[in-house]
Amino acid sequence: MCGIVGFIGNEEASPILLDGLSRLEYRGYDSAGLAVYGQEQGVQVVKAKGRLKGLSDLTQGGATVHGSLGVGHTRWATHGAPSDINSHPQVSESGRFAVVHNGIIENYVEIREFLQSKGVTFVSQTDTEVVAQLLEYYYRGGLLDAVNKTLNRIRGAYALGIICADHPDMLIAVRQDSPLIIGRGECFHMLASDVTAVIKYTREVSYLDDGEIAILTRDGVEVRDRYRQVVEKAVSHVDWEVSAAEKGGYEHFMAKEIMEQPEAFRKTVFPRIKDGHVLLDELEFTPEYLKDMDKLYIIACGSSYHVGMVAKYNLEKLLRKPVEVTLASEFRYCDPIVSERTLALVISQSGETIDTLAAMREAKRLGARVLAIVNVVGSTIAREADDVLYTWAGPEIAVATTKAYSTQLALTYLIGLHFAEVMGAISPESYARIVSELLLLPTKMESILEQRDSIQYFASLYFNHPSIFFIGRNVDYAVGLEGSLKLKEISYIHSEAYAAGELKHGTISLIEPGTLVVALGSYAPLFEKTMSNVVEVKSRGADVLGLTTGTLYDAMVKTVDHAMAVPETHPMLLPSLDVLPLQLFAYYVALQRGCDIDKPRNLAKSVTVE
Ligand code: M6R
Repeated sequence: MCGIVGFIGNEEASPILLDGLSRLEYRGYDSAGLAVYGQEQGVQVVKAKGRLKGLSDLTQGGATVHGSLGVGHTRWATHGAPSDINSHPQVSESGRFAVVHNGIIENYVEIREFLQSKGVTFVSQTDTEVVAQLLEYYYRGGLLDAVNKTLNRIRGAYALGIICADHPDMLIAVRQDSPLIIGRGECFHMLASDVTAVIKYTREVSYLDDGEIAILTRDGVEVRDRYRQVVEKAVSHVDWEVSAAEKGGYEHFMAKEIMEQPEAFRKTVFPRIKDGHVLLDELEFTPEYLKDMDKLYIIACGSSYHVGMVAKYNLEKLLRKPVEVTLASEFRYCDPIVSERTLALVISQSGETIDTLAAMREAKRLGARVLAIVNVVGSTIAREADDVLYTWAGPEIAVATTKAYSTQLALTYLIGLHFAEVMGAISPESYARIVSELLLLPTKMESILEQRDSIQYFASLYFNHPSIFFIGRNVDYAVGLEGSLKLKEISYIHSEAYAAGELKHGTISLIEPGTLVVALGSYAPLFEKTMSNVVEVKSRGADVLGLTTGTLYDAMVKTVDHAMAVPETHPMLLPSLDVLPLQLFAYYVALQRGCDIDKPRNLAKSVTVE
C-alpha cells in the first residue's frame, strides 16, 4: 500500500526522498510524488503516474527540486484512479500545505461538501485532499493548532506527513491505524512507513502509536499523545544491514528470498532449541492455562492464513485441542465464539495488515489472550499482542512472501512442540524425533533449492497453461493453497487449490485435456487416496505434475507426466519442504511470462486498508 517518507535536515531533501521511496516500492504503488520546500521557491510539488523512475526522470534524480524539508509518496490508488492529479502530495488551495497520506479518510465526502460550501475548490478525487484543505481552512498562523483541529474532524485510518510553507522548520507526522516510524539522525530527522526507507541514513528509530503526533525539526523530535501531552518515545536500534534489503546479485528479490529460506529457518529455529528442547523464553504458558484452553483460534490473511491451515492439522494432532483457522477479514464480522479460555494465534509478516490487526483487537476485546507471530520488529501487531514470537527472516521485499511463510511455519512447529511438552501431551520419543528432524530441515531445504533447474524445466513446459489446479490431502492440501496463491499472484494464471477428495464434488467438471494439475502426494498416510484422485484427473486428459517424497516417488511417477521428490522428514514438517518447489515453479513460470515478479499488478506488500 502507499509508502510515505519525509525529511528535514541540512541536505537536499529530494534525492533522499527519492531513495526512500525506491525502498518502499515493494509495498505496491501506481504513482509517486514529492513536495519540497525551498526558501526561494516555496512548496514545489512534482508528481507522476506510473513507476518511480518517471518521477526521478522528471526531477533529474531530485536535482531540480531544491530544499531541505520535504515529503514523498508512492500511491496505491483507493479513491480516484491512478493519475498525476490524484497522486500525492495533495496540496491546499493556496499551495501552503502539502500532505502525504496512507490509509482512508472515511468521512471525506461530508468534509468535502462542507468545504465546498465554504467556497473551497477541489482538484482531485482523493480522500486525502480534504486533509490539505482542512488544514488551510483552520490555519490562523499556528501549525499545530490547525493540525489538531483537522485531526478532530477526520475519521478513518491514516498516517500523514505534512509540511507548511510558513513553517519551514517543522515536519509533522501523524499516526492513526496506519504504520509510521521516525528516523532519528544527527541534525536531521525522517518519517517513513517503515524502516527500510530510513536505514541507509539512520538505524535509530521510534515507532509512533495511534493518536500520536510528532513534530520533527532539524535538531529534535517532540511526540504528543492523543491528549496532546508530550511523551517520551523509546528509541530502537535496527540491527540488520542495508544489503538485507537489496537484491545481492539476484534478478529479483523473490529469487533471493527463496534462496535465503534455509538460513532464515536456521536463524528462527536454532537459537530456540537447546539440548533437544524447544525453549521459547518469550512465552509463559503454564500447564494449567494450556490444559484449560478451550480453543486455539488462528487468525491471519493470505499466505499467513495458509500457514494457519498447516498449523491446524499439526496442532490438533499434537495438542488434541480444537483449532479453528479463520481469515482475519471474516473474523470480526462473524460473531466469533471466543472466551477467556481462548488463545488467539495471530500470524502476520508485516504486523500491520489492517484486517489482522482489527481482528486481533476484537479477539482481545472478547477476552482472548493473543500470541502473535510477526516478522517486522516493532510493528503494531507485535506491540499490541500479549505475547509475540518473531520470525527472524529479515526484511522481505518481494510482494509474494516466501521466507516469511517458511519461518512462520517453523514457529508453528515450535509452538506445537512447546505446548505439547508443557501439557505433557507428547511422548519423549515422539518429541525427540520431531526435534531432530526439525534441525535437519535447513539442509534438506538446500538440497531442494539446488534442484531448481529441473523446476525451471517444468515451468518451461507449462507456463502457457491457462489454468492450473493444485490438489492434495491434509498438510499437502494446505501447502497446495500456498502454491496456488504464489502462482496466481505473480504469474496471473488462473489457479485453484482443492482438497483432492473434494474434486468430485464439482471442480472435476473443469478438468479437460491439457489442464495442468499439480498433485501433492507427500503425506504418506493418504498417498493412495490422493493417487486415486490423480488417476481420475488423468483419465479426463489432465497433465499431472506430481510432488512427493523419495520413497513414494516410484509409485507416483508411473501415473503422472512428471514428478519430483523432496527428502523424507516427519509428516508434520513436510510443508517446509514441499512449498519450495511450488515457490520456484511460480517464480519460473512468471519469469517465462515476463511478469513484474517483485511488484505484481494490483498488489501491495502490506495491506493497510480494509
Ligand atoms: O503481512 P501479512 O502476513 O499480514 O500479509 C498477509 C497477506 O497480505 C500476504 O500473505 C499476501 O497474501 C502475500 N502477498 C502472499 O504472497
